[in-house]
Amino acid sequence: MAKASEIEDNDSFKMGQPYFCNECGRNHTKGKIYKEHLKYAQFESNSEEDEQQEITELNEFDEKELTDAFNEIEKEESNYEDENEIEDNIDSNIEDIPNNGESIQECINAVKQLPGVGEATLNKLIKAGFSSLESIAFTPPKIIQQESGLGDKTTAKLIKSSMEELNIGFKSAVDVWEHRKNIARITTGSQELDDLLGGGVETGSVIEFFGEFRTGKTQIMHQLCVNVQLHEEKGGMEGKALYIDTEGTFRPERIIQMSEGLDLDHNIILKNIVFGRAYNSDHQILLIKEASNLIKEQNIKLIVVDSLIGHFRSEYIGRGTLANRQQTINSHLHDLLRLCDIYPDLAIVVTNQVQSKPDVFYGNPIQAAGGNVVAHGSTIRVFLRKGKGEQRIAKIVDAPHLPEGEAIFSITENGISD
Ligand code: GTP
Ligand code: MG
Repeated sequence: MAKASEIEDNDSFKMGQPYFCNECGRNHTKGKIYKEHLKYAQFESNSEEDEQQEITELNEFDEKELTDAFNEIEKEESNYEDENEIEDNIDSNIEDIPNNGESIQECINAVKQLPGVGEATLNKLIKAGFSSLESIAFTPPKIIQQESGLGDKTTAKLIKSSMEELNIGFKSAVDVWEHRKNIARITTGSQELDDLLGGGVETGSVIEFFGEFRTGKTQIMHQLCVNVQLHEEKGGMEGKALYIDTEGTFRPERIIQMSEGLDLDHNIILKNIVFGRAYNSDHQILLIKEASNLIKEQNIKLIVVDSLIGHFRSEYIGRGTLANRQQTINSHLHDLLRLCDIYPDLAIVVTNQVQSKPDVFYGNPIQAAGGNVVAHGSTIRVFLRKGKGEQRIAKIVDAPHLPEGEAIFSITENGISD
C-alpha cells in the first residue's frame, strides 16, 4: 500500500482520486487536507526544508479549506487541554478507599478478651459474623445461638459482658443530642431533596423510598453509591457502598454517567461499589447477614437494598402465607436496623414497591407494599411520584424528626439534580 505522502507527490494520481492512507489508516481523496496529516506537519516536521516543502504543498489548496482545517485542529487541541484539566480534577476529587484490615483485627481482639472466649468459641462467632463486641451486644440471644451454634448460657454470658465492655445502659439526652448533632449525611445530588431530608440521607437510619415504576427509586440508589464516596465537604462520607440488587436493575453504565457528571474517575467509583445480586428472599437475607463482616473490612458507609420486598411478594403467595411472610420481612428489616446500631456511621437505603388499594375512595389509593411491618421498620419513608418530563416529586410520609413536605428533583443523564 502507498503512503499518503507518496500519493500526494505522485502525478499519476488525479486530484480527487480516492486512496487508502497508511499514515492514518483511513480512506482519503488526493488533494484534501486531513487533520492527522496537518498535525503531523505541525508537530513533527522540524527541518526547514520540510517546512518549505509543506508550505508550497499547502499553498496549492483552497485557502478556506485550510483555515477550516486549522480551526478544527485548534478546537481539538483545546479539547485535549480540557481533558487534562478533568484528569487533574479527578486526581484531587476521588481516591481509592482503602480496606480497614487493622480495625477488624482490633474488633476480633476485643471479642477474644471476653471472659470464657477460647479459640473454638471465637472461631464459631467469627464464622457466624459476630466479630465485634457491638454485633454480640445488639443481637438477640436466639439469633446468636441459631447462627453460631453456641449454647444459651454461653450466649447470655457473652452478651452481658459485651454490654458491660461497651458501657451500654441509660444515658443522658444530652449525649444523644451530641451524637445526633454530629450525624453524617450523604447528598442525593438535589439540593431540594437534601433539604427535604434534613440535609441528605442520614446515617444510623433505614430510609425507604417507595413509589410506582419509573419514579426514580433505582436512580437515587445509584446516585447515592457515587455520592457516598465524595469528600465530606462535597456531601459524601469517603466510604464504599454495598449494593444488594434483587431486581437485576443495577447498571454500571449509569454509575459511569453519574461519575462523569461529577468529573470523577468512574473506574475508582465502580471499584468502590461492592455488588451482590440476590436471587431469592433467602439469598437476600443471607447477603445482609454476611454484610456485617464486610462493613468494617471494606469501609462501607452505605448499604442499598433495591428492592426490599420484591422477592418476598413473589415467593409468598396467597393469604395462608401472609403471617409467615410478614414475620420473615420483619426479621430481615431488624437485621438491617441492627446494622445501624452496630455501625453508627452507616446509612441504609431501601426501595419499596407500591400496591393499589381498590377500596380507597378518598385520598391516595397507592400505598407502600409490606404493610405495617415495613412502615414501622423503616425510620424515614419517602414517597416518589412522577412529575413533568424528567421531574419527580418526593414527599416525606413518615419521619421521627422531619415535617411532612415535598421536593421536586430531576433525573438527568448525569444523575439526580434539582
Ligand atoms: P421500578 O424499579 O420499575 O419500580 O422503577 P424505579 O422507580 O426504580 O425507576 P428508575 O429509578 O429505574 O427510573 C427509571 C427512569 O429514570 C426512566 O424511566 C427515565 O425516566 C429515567 N432515566 C434513566 N436513565 C436516564 C438517563 O440517562 N437520562 C434521563 N434523563 N433519564 C433517565
Ligand atoms: Mg427500580
